Amino acid sequence: MDKIIIKGGKKLKGKVGISGSKNSALPILFASLLTDEPVVINNVPNLADINTTLAFLNFIGKKIIKKANSVKILSSLDYKHIAPYDLVRKMRASVLIMGPLLARLKKVDVSLPGGCAIGARPIDIHLEAFKKLGAKIEVSGGYVKMRAENGLMGAEIKLRFPSVGATENILLAAVLAKGKSKIINAAKEPEIEDLANFLNKMGAKIKGAGTKTIIIEGVEKMHGAIHNVIPDRIEAATYLIAAAITKGDIILENVIADHIRAVIEKLKKSGMHIKEYKSKIHIKWIKKLKTQNISTEVYPGYPTDAQAQWTALMSVTDGKSTVKENVFENRFMHIPELQRFGADLIIDGKNVYIKGAKKLSGAPAMVSDLRAGAALVLAGLAAEGESIISRIYHLDRGYELLEKKFKKLGADIKRIS
Ligand code: EPZ
Repeated sequence: MDKIIIKGGKKLKGKVGISGSKNSALPILFASLLTDEPVVINNVPNLADINTTLAFLNFIGKKIIKKANSVKILSSLDYKHIAPYDLVRKMRASVLIMGPLLARLKKVDVSLPGGCAIGARPIDIHLEAFKKLGAKIEVSGGYVKMRAENGLMGAEIKLRFPSVGATENILLAAVLAKGKSKIINAAKEPEIEDLANFLNKMGAKIKGAGTKTIIIEGVEKMHGAIHNVIPDRIEAATYLIAAAITKGDIILENVIADHIRAVIEKLKKSGMHIKEYKSKIHIKWIKKLKTQNISTEVYPGYPTDAQAQWTALMSVTDGKSTVKENVFENRFMHIPELQRFGADLIIDGKNVYIKGAKKLSGAPAMVSDLRAGAALVLAGLAAEGESIISRIYHLDRGYELLEKKFKKLGADIKRIS
């Protein structure tokens, strides 16, 4: 099992290129099932979750040609309609296979995804929506089996919570349904917009993606398309916070500042100097930071995927602060690990009360989930002494070339097998 060794205390300096968005690429890759024509997706990050998805598409029946960050997906004569446990358990986003297969094959059997380190993460909102679109659903033998013999029918679907995955799954199904669908209380994340743009290039008729109400006119057939995935806003947020926690001065390239407005505002309020250019952000530490409380919300609020990273920053910012996690019911797995670095953190329900320590001390730590891992790397970069971070396969799921990018910024960081 690989580990990352960090000798903390270096100020990060220089430029870092932000990769394509994992959470945008995933639904877009699944969307390739909606057509038999070739699709080409560019700016796809080289990540474990992407490879899992490509293997999944190959299992279902697609031919994959991957060159660097570009993926070409070719059709096959027929597709399997079963998504087995050993594929689904690797990545929760595998549930996005449901929408396209239901729409194309009128049937799909998907192994229940199970929870993951950040909570039970049910799929009730997805299933409710598929029922509304006319699917008959049966849960048996650990599988969700869905049938829509006469095809899906457009419907009005009101989400009890603006679930990102459910919104994506509905889009992936409704584009080929008969008639019009309307999603009310839809997720507004940029990844939803990116998916809708790709689907519209394939011949779909979607309006309102990125707002809380999305209208989809079903079409008969979808065709191939070419698409560039948007930059990864959470990777970008992670590097911005890395600049803050190491008192650094870095320039992010290939980034869309509007997609992380909430994080930029919090960093500015804490005292970081930030200038935005067309597709670049220059962030520089100029003075002792002030604490800032955060409360995670759906987009465009402060992103839950950057909560752990902010907690690490506040752990070494003089004063008291509170971090409130409203989106997931158990996204504090990084807290006990941050305490090993000397962080003063108290969990109380959805809140973490933080007392900034003068300094953190390097420590051995273990990654529990993707963004918790990012928080441990940030703590290691800021801490005095050496940190040894294990189970970094979680990091490989979502951060492309992580240690190479940090090394280029001047961090003393290396990966050992
Ligand atoms: C997406 O997960 C992201 N993953 C997550 O990023 C991100 O944290 C999350 O959206 C919130 O922004 C991908 O895009 C692949 P949700 P998703 O459905 O779609 C509950 C990362 O680090 N819920 O919006 O699973 C759920 O339990 C990952 O890259 C239901 O109760 O998120 C959670 O508490 C981690 N029933 C909340 O809603 C459902 O049917 C948000 O979930 C669906 C969700």
